[in-house]
Amino acid sequence: MVFDYANRLKLLPPYLFAEIEEKVERKRKEGVDIIDFGIGDPDLPTPRPIVEFIKRELDDPGNHRYPSSAGEADTRKAIAQWYKERFKVDVDPNGEVAILIGSKEGLANICRAFVNPGEKVLAPDPAYPVYAQGGALLTDAVPVRFPLLPERGFLPDMESLPTDARMVYLNYPNNPTGAVCDEEFLLGASRWCIETDTILCYDNAYSEMTFDDYIAPSALQVAQGDGTIEFGSMSKTFNMTGYRIGYAVGDADLISGLKKVKSQIDSGAPKFLQRAVTMALGAYEGGERPQMVKDNIAVYQRRRNVLVTGLRRLGFKVDPPKGTFYLWLKVDGPSLEFAERLLSAGVVVTPGIGFGRNGEGYVRMATTQPVERIEEALERMAKVL
Ligand SMILES: Cc1ncc(COP(=O)(O)O)c(C=O)c1O
Repeated sequence: MVFDYANRLKLLPPYLFAEIEEKVERKRKEGVDIIDFGIGDPDLPTPRPIVEFIKRELDDPGNHRYPSSAGEADTRKAIAQWYKERFKVDVDPNGEVAILIGSKEGLANICRAFVNPGEKVLAPDPAYPVYAQGGALLTDAVPVRFPLLPERGFLPDMESLPTDARMVYLNYPNNPTGAVCDEEFLLGASRWCIETDTILCYDNAYSEMTFDDYIAPSALQVAQGDGTIEFGSMSKTFNMTGYRIGYAVGDADLISGLKKVKSQIDSGAPKFLQRAVTMALGAYEGGERPQMVKDNIAVYQRRRNVLVTGLRRLGFKVDPPKGTFYLWLKVDGPSLEFAERLLSAGVVVTPGIGFGRNGEGYVRMATTQPVERIEEALERMAKVL
C-alpha cells in the first residue's frame, strides 16, 4: 500500500541538497578526506562546567519526571533575570517566558498558534528554511518571501513589505548572511509591525555569537508595544545543539498561545536541561558573557579571520561577519555548481540557493573546522578554482 502525503507536506519544496549530500556520502565511502563547512553545528564541545552540572542533575530523581509544559518556574525566572541584565528588558517570568525544545520548535509552532490557513507569513529570502516551511507551509499558511540584498546590508526594506500579513520573521545576527542589525533598524521594524498589525517573530538564536565590538540587541529593547516575540537558544551560545533547549520571550498573549499549542504536542524540555539553562545563563555577570562563552567566541573569531584572509588571497571579496559562525561568500555562477567544484577537492559548502532565490550566487561556509583544516581547505580551493 502506498500512503499519499497530506497536501501541506507535498507543498514543501524539493530538498535541493539531496543530490550533493549523496555525492558527499559517496566520497566519504571512497575514503576521500572531507572538510565540511556545510552544517551549522558547532564542532566544539559543550563547556565542561555545563556537562558536569547536567551529570549531577541526572542523579536527582526529581529531574526524571515530566516537566511542567509551561517551563520550570526557576528557569523562567533565570531567563527573565538574564534579559534584565543582558538587554535591560523587564519581562514577567510567569507570563512572558516559554521554554522550548530548541528554538526551531517554537519558530514553527508560533504559526500554529496565530496563523490561519491561507493567511500570509512574511519570511526573508535568503533565510533559515523553518520560517517559510515548518512555520508557514505546515500551517497551511502562505509564505511570502522578501529579499535581503547586499546593497542594504542584508536588511529588509520594511516599507516595501505587504501590509496584510499575519506575521513577519526577522533574524539577526543572520543565518545565512552573517549580517547584523542595530537598535534603529529594530525600532523601525517594530513600528512597522504595530502600524500594520503584524506579529513580529524575532529570531535571536545567535545573539551571543558576535565578534569584535558588536553586541547584538534584543527586539524587546525597542518593541513599541505588544506583538513581539523573540526566540533564543542555548545551541550556539554554549555549543548545545544536540540537547535541544531554547526559549521564547515577549508579548504575554503570544507566549500564552505558543504554550497552548505546545501543551497539546510536547510535554516540555527535560528538567535537567532546564536546570542547565538556569546554571549557564546565571554565569553571565552584569550581562557580560562568561569566560566559557568568551573562549568559544575567541575560537570562532580566529577561524573567521583565517578564512576571510585566505579567501581574499584567493580573490574573493568578503568582509568578516560580525555575527554567527557563517561566511556568506559571493561566487561566480550558480551556487550548486560552485559547491560541486569544491566537493571535487573534498571541501563541502552549502549552496546559497537552498536558503531562497536570493541566495543564488552565494555559498555559506560554517566555521566549524579547526584552523589547520581551514588552511588545508583553502589550499585545496586554490587548486580547483
Ligand atoms: C537562524 C536560526 N534560528 C534558529 C535555529 C534553531 O536553533 P535551535 O533549534 O537549535 O535552538 C537555527 C539553527 O541552525 C538557526 O540557524
